[in-house]
Formats: sequence, C-alpha cells, structure tokens
Amino acid sequence: MRIRKAVFPVGGLGTRFFPITRAIPKEMLGILDKPLIHYAFEEAVAAGIEQFILVTRHGKAAIEDYFDYMFSHRDCFSVKISSICYVRQNEPKGLGHAVLCARDLIGDEPFAVLSADDFIVGSKSCIGEMSEHYNGANMVATMEVDRSDVDKYGIIDVERKEGSVIFAKSVTEKPSVGAAKSNFAIIGRYLLSPEIFGVLENLSPGVNGEVQLTDALEKMISICGLEGFLISGKRFDCGSKEGLLAATLHVANCNSTLRYVIDRFIGERV
Ligand code: G1P
Repeated sequence: MRIRKAVFPVGGLGTRFFPITRAIPKEMLGILDKPLIHYAFEEAVAAGIEQFILVTRHGKAAIEDYFDYMFSHRDCFSVKISSICYVRQNEPKGLGHAVLCARDLIGDEPFAVLSADDFIVGSKSCIGEMSEHYNGANMVATMEVDRSDVDKYGIIDVERKEGSVIFAKSVTEKPSVGAAKSNFAIIGRYLLSPEIFGVLENLSPGVNGEVQLTDALEKMISICGLEGFLISGKRFDCGSKEGLLAATLHVANCNSTLRYVIDRFIGERV
C-alpha cells in the first residue's frame, strides 16, 4: 500500500549521550559525514515517502538548520522531497505523545514513523520493504534480541509467523525479563493506521510515566491487528555509544577509501 507521509520523532533528550547532547540534538550525531536523521530520511526517500514531518522541541534547531540546507540542495537525495514540516512537542511525554502531535499533518491516511536512533542498513529500505507488505494492519519492524535485553523494548507475543511477518497476539512495552512472552522486539519503524490518533489521545501514561505507542498498538490489535515485520537488514542502536560506534565502524568498513583506517587500527593492536 502506498505510504506518502512519515513522522520522525526527534524530541528525545539523548541522556545516554550527555554532555554532547546538552548542545547538539542526538539525531545530529554523525556516522562519518552525515547525521543519523539524514540516514533515516534516505531510507524514507527510498520508500517513496513525500512528506516528512519532524516532531521537534526546544534545543533541536540544528535539525531544522540542517534540513534548510538539504532542502535547498535536494540533489543530495536520490528523489525529490516535496515537503518537510515541523511540529512542536512541548513536553517530553513519550513516543506515543510525539506521534499524536503529528495528527493534524497526517490527516486520514496510513503513515510511517521512523526513529533515527535505529540505524538500519541493508540492500533494501526497511520502511520500503514494510510498505510492500502493509495491508492495513498496524505494522512494526521487529528482530530477535538477547533475552536479557527484552526490558529495553516493546515485545511481541507471537500468535503465528508467515515468512517475514509475525502476527501478534499482544504486545508489551519493556516487560521484565521474566515476564516477556518472546524475544521479538519492536525496532523503531512503524506503519500505522490513522485510527491510532483516537486511541493515543485517550491513553493513560504507561511505562516511565510516558504515553507509549506500544500501548496504543496493543489496544488496536482487536480492531485491525498488529504485524511484526522481521527486518532483513542490520540494525544498530545508535541511541547508545556502543551502537553508534559499531555503526560507524560498519559504514567505514563498507567504504573502500576508509577501510584501511580500521585495518591499521587492528594491526596496531595485535
Ligand atoms: C521505543 C519504543 C519501544 C521500542 C524501541 C525501539 O523505546 O517505546 O517499544 O522497542 O523504541 O528502539 P525507547 O528506546 O524510546 O525507550
């Protein structure tokens, strides 16, 4: 199904990267010469997204400045971006609340959500692959994580699996290791029905006192279902130092003019 609009929640504080994120939005942290948000835009462009909606907040103006430049140099992207809009999330009330802030700009059509923290590389655009499978049920990107890490993610209780798609019986935000029904975790890519806005606006705060997108997805399972799309690419959690470092090494290693730096570093260590 054709998805035209994508929401990029960029209001997070980036506490795991203090002190740099006291002055620089975490989405502007770089993998070599491009910020994380740029990679998420490229993935969305490759999926045919035309309207880019950033849910931003105080202290994030560098993102707007960056896209002012990119928008006036659109050749940097392989296809045309028709529009970039910004909406403010004035309070850090969670991912569900951030998505709700984009309601008026989305209107009544299915839309994508991409978290720039989750850097996904592969031969295909992750959100593009998901769009090819989207049939109206809410869809999340998913991958298996270590059992000890399930309390960092939304976790899917699996009803059945067909190829790359997992049909969810239920979904829980950050369950304890003992309570988790599986180790299939939600990764920051979503294709959502606009009906989710009505659910989000009536949702009570959940884990960490935040309005959780996962809780809205759980409430909608009986209405439209929930599918987990097993990502084919490699995902790096760039909300963490380890993940950003690993992503940087991965990208450098794929670059024939930079790979020697890694080889030399390894050579000097042995
Ligand atoms: C958010 C979602 C969670 C998801 C995760 C993926 O959590 O709430 O369900 O698994 O992103 O990165 P956060 O990392 O913002 O705490």
